[in-house]
Amino acid sequence: MTRIGYIIGSLAAGSINRQVGQAIASLAPEGVEFVELNYSELPQYSYDLDADYPVAAREWKQAIEDVDGVVILTPEYLRSIPGALKNAIDFASRPWGTNSFNGKPVAIAGASVGAIGTAAAQQHLRAILGHLNAPTLGQPEVFLKFSPDDFGANGEVNNPATLALLEGFVAATVAHVELHTHESVNA
Ligand SMILES: Cc1cc2nc3c(=O)[nH]c(=O)nc-3n(C[C@H](O)[C@H](O)[C@H](O)COP(=O)(O)O)c2cc1C
Repeated sequence: MTRIGYIIGSLAAGSINRQVGQAIASLAPEGVEFVELNYSELPQYSYDLDADYPVAAREWKQAIEDVDGVVILTPEYLRSIPGALKNAIDFASRPWGTNSFNGKPVAIAGASVGAIGTAAAQQHLRAILGHLNAPTLGQPEVFLKFSPDDFGANGEVNNPATLALLEGFVAATVAHVELHTHESVNA
């Protein structure tokens, strides 16, 4: 079984990115399981915490290390990623020398109410993941301008074009994760 964690870059109860994440999880092929990785209990990061890392941060790092790959669904806040998501990635990257994203295959997607569908935020996220040495899926890019009619309450996707895009994204993500999983097994 290939386990892929998905991270919602929003703390909002009604997050549209969670709806997209649930839709992606529902498209998992046989032998693949998507699990949400939750970081809502994290405090604000400071390197003062490095010497005695909070339990929530240890559990967060372990959750990332325990999955074969990660999908990050990012909203776009002020043309970048939300502060809460950046805080969670900061925690995962530290204490120095224990970067939980090192070598971890990642795919990114995002939905916003704006016309560019998180394209600007995703470029920032790619730069962060590159610095963390996380191999990041290049294509397909998923920049969704969110329309409530496109998604049902239980993760179903009603818009055929959106469904095809997400199916292609899931297939490419699984191939990306399995490629890197096998690389690390053979290393
Ligand atoms: C502080 C803040 C900044 C935002 N900035 C942008 C932006 O730069 N581009 C954009 O398309 N939408 C922006 N939005 C609107 C978001 O697309 C919208 O709130 C969306 O629902 C966020 O995703 P979420 O529901 O998963 O949190 C912003 C929203 C907030 C609260």
